[in-house]
Amino acid sequence: MYVSHLSLTDFRSYHQVDLTFEPGITAFVGPNGQGKTNLVEAIGYVSTFTSHRVPSDAPLVRAGAAAAVVRSRIVRAQDDGSERALVLDIQLGSGRHNRVKLNGSPSRARDVMGALRSVLFAPEDLSLVKGDPDGRRKFVDALCVQITPRLAGVFSEYDRVVRQRTALLKSAAGFRGSRSTLDLSTLDVWDAKLAELAARVIIARHAVVAALTPYVAESYREVSDDQGAAELTYRSSIDDEVQPDPGPRPFEAVEADVLAALARVRRKELERGLCLVGPHRDDLVLTLGGLPAKGYASHGESWSFALALRLASYQLLSNGPVDGTVNGEADLWVADSGPDGEPVLMLDDVFAELDAKRRRRLATMVAPARQVFVTAAVPGDVPEQLAGARFDVLAAEVSRAG
Ligand SMILES: Nc1ncnc2c1ncn2[C@@H]1O[C@H](COP(=O)(O)OP(=O)(O)OP(=O)(O)O)[C@@H](O)[C@H]1O
Ligand SMILES: [Mg+2]
Repeated sequence: MYVSHLSLTDFRSYHQVDLTFEPGITAFVGPNGQGKTNLVEAIGYVSTFTSHRVPSDAPLVRAGAAAAVVRSRIVRAQDDGSERALVLDIQLGSGRHNRVKLNGSPSRARDVMGALRSVLFAPEDLSLVKGDPDGRRKFVDALCVQITPRLAGVFSEYDRVVRQRTALLKSAAGFRGSRSTLDLSTLDVWDAKLAELAARVIIARHAVVAALTPYVAESYREVSDDQGAAELTYRSSIDDEVQPDPGPRPFEAVEADVLAALARVRRKELERGLCLVGPHRDDLVLTLGGLPAKGYASHGESWSFALALRLASYQLLSNGPVDGTVNGEADLWVADSGPDGEPVLMLDDVFAELDAKRRRRLATMVAPARQVFVTAAVPGDVPEQLAGARFDVLAAEVSRAG
């Protein structure tokens, strides 16, 4: 698929901009702070309804404006070789729900999520390797949602249940010493809800991680010129120890494991007022040559690993799982059976960080993609293999070069 039009009104630094794109390579070039990342952020927003840089929408609205509008036209190839376009209008503002229109008709965000698939690699991604588990959980969850958009509802419902259960445990912890007013049967009800949703989250994440792993290993080899084996393991907080991937497991078994783990930690949870087990405490462990990447990998290796995670996501979305790697919920891939799943690829400020050899290698890897957006401060940072359309970005004005 590809984005053929993007128009922004009061989005970030842009008052108004209308852009037309072709499939293939598009570069946004300009000095620092001129609005290049704002453009790829807008495309990412169309795809995920979130920004890769900020957790809330408020900073996305131009300072002084009440709302921003991101309008895009997305072209998707059909199985019969024809193309279908859809126009997506998203109005976002601080403190209110997005207003979404699909081809002019009001629509719900959750119904249009997945209309555009995208993979964005940005310097912030280094924290996928070096940072806290939270970033890695979000990475896996976002990939789950791109594959199967309905999972967005499961993730947000799970978060809601964790918040409410935590509030209940906190209120119980507050009564420590005096007679607790917490009715334990209320907690049992929340445990059952949590276990059901937790099992769905865990199974989806396991399936996606298992399917992603071979692509990560391959991408890392390619990016790093065969230096070391990159591996991923999903570490669940419901197991006491890190265990090798248990393989596909039925929903009921995972749900029962979560309930058993909750029973084991209940006393501790009541003491501490915290929800101690569940996918909100899980992690994606990254290893390089058998050692944890976090804490051991060099800067360059961490960078290559982060890049490999994104390139692998791109390949998984484009091609689906390598045969035999689906683990657990196979219908993850069936649910979004729309044609042309190949995502739009965005590389923000990536090439300046790489030496000449790695630049060439990465450029060769991404050149065949249907649509690639690249940002760079100077034209020389865009490798020759990625010659294509160029837009100059200066003071939130965008002009077609050449
Ligand atoms: N809500 C907003 N309202 C107005 N201006 C904003 C808003 N959010 C960000 N900006 C401005 O946008 C500019 C940053 O744009 P962007 O991040 O796209 O730069 P860039 O071209 O990618 O730069 P770099 O090369 O440094 O990455 C900054 O000048 C910032 O002040
Ligand atoms: Mg930038």
